[in-house]
Amino acid sequence: MSGSGTPFAAHPYGAVAAVYDELAALYSLGAIDRSKRAGVSALAPGERVLFVGAGRGSDVVGAVRRGCRVTAVDLAPAMLARLRASLDREGLAAETILGDVADHRPAEPYDALVAHYFLNLWDTPLAGAMLAHLRSLVRPGGRLVVADFARPSGGSVASLLANAYYRPIDWLAWALGYCALHPILDYGVLLPAAGFRITREQRFAVLGIRDPAYVSIVAQRID
Ligand SMILES: C[S@@+](CC[C@H](N)C(=O)[O-])C[C@H]1O[C@@H](n2cnc3c(N)ncnc32)[C@H](O)[C@@H]1O
Repeated sequence: MSGSGTPFAAHPYGAVAAVYDELAALYSLGAIDRSKRAGVSALAPGERVLFVGAGRGSDVVGAVRRGCRVTAVDLAPAMLARLRASLDREGLAAETILGDVADHRPAEPYDALVAHYFLNLWDTPLAGAMLAHLRSLVRPGGRLVVADFARPSGGSVASLLANAYYRPIDWLAWALGYCALHPILDYGVLLPAAGFRITREQRFAVLGIRDPAYVSIVAQRID
């Protein structure tokens, strides 16, 4: 159940479940959805896949359609209810778990984990601690698929554009309690530090220029 009291249980999204996907599509002009579809394309039929902070789970539905055996965890009942309704509409099945990912201890590790727009709920130290937990949930050689805001591509104009886009939404989400106030996470540092090797990285621009953008990353657990 939710409310486990770990430092990771502070940001349920139930209050915005009805509009979350629509707002994300509008704000990113579809780039968030494109980044999530890229993540799903990295999954293979038959794999056991865990979606952490699954939300309404359009990507969960995509993975089930693809033939993956999916478990989805989220803190917010309203998010999971929408996900289950989407699955039901298509006659698809996935295991859904209401609770804190930090408390999830499966009997067997997964082949792949999907963390789409999840790790950016925390500052860098807590995101690193969550990554250490996620590593324990995936088998050696298994994959972690991440989508998030992309770091600026380089140069002061790129930084200006990325920050002008990202900062106001970060401040607003922080003020409403939806995430920590933090810089765009540096997965080039965080993932290797947590024992993952990046094997694929794709950028999804919002306006057709390099910045601002979102990123889809596939990383492999190294042992
Ligand atoms: C920013 S939303 C992203 C949702 C979805 N992955 C997507 O890309 O649309 C983050 C989701 O993580 C869930 N969440 C936050 N902390 C969590 C935790 N500790 N365990 C499980 N879910 C959590 C929230 O309820 C919310 O649905």
